[in-house]
Amino acid sequence: MSKNKINGGCKSGGGKNRERPGEEDLSLFSSARNKFISRRDFIKGVISSGATIAALGYMPGSPGLSRARAASPGAVERLISLKVNGRTRRVDVLPQETLAMTLRYKLGLTGTKLSCDRGECGACTVLIDDVAHYSCTTLTHSVRNRSITTIEGLEGPSGELHPVQKAFVEELGPQCGYCTPGQIMSAVALLKENPHPTREEILLSMSGNLCRCGSYDHYFRAITRAAQGG
Ligand code: FES
Ligand code: FES
Repeated sequence: MSKNKINGGCKSGGGKNRERPGEEDLSLFSSARNKFISRRDFIKGVISSGATIAALGYMPGSPGLSRARAASPGAVERLISLKVNGRTRRVDVLPQETLAMTLRYKLGLTGTKLSCDRGECGACTVLIDDVAHYSCTTLTHSVRNRSITTIEGLEGPSGELHPVQKAFVEELGPQCGYCTPGQIMSAVALLKENPHPTREEILLSMSGNLCRCGSYDHYFRAITRAAQGG
């Protein structure tokens, strides 16, 4: 019997009078050890089975999903349809997710800006059924059957700018430009509802959109220009 084999079978090394295991003992030990799953194998198994179960649960129409729904009657369906810029988009939305997050990070519509993320600055303004809303304080699930328009949706069929966008350019409105999409969406909403607003109506309507660069006069002139037909 080799020295290695003996040492491998008895980590304590044994005392002088300790009886050394025979060949049969060692083979018993080794087959018993093979029956044990290593810690690494065990963890791998847990992770892979967990991933499989989770994946099954997310597959539309899967038994896993049906069981999950049945188990939690108050659960919100996550895979929903949204009508954005004239297209129906299927998207996986968390129950507490805001429209700004969905538009930017799920649908790639990054023209909608996130700044304060708390309904104070207007950078995230979009149209919902042609009315200006802060998308950072709108839950996506609440607009499932509504028509959402973002700055990307103002583009004409040949890629041309919307008349309000042209007027903003003509009046050199944007400085850093971060607030500009929100400003434009608010202006578009105003002119849809009131094509010929007074000065006071423009100021009141745009009061929910802040501009850190102070371009307010430029934006005001741009909206006046757009209302006059460019
Ligand atoms: S980011 Fe929505 S209001 Fe400021
Ligand atoms: S143009 Fe910079 S914040 Fe308005």
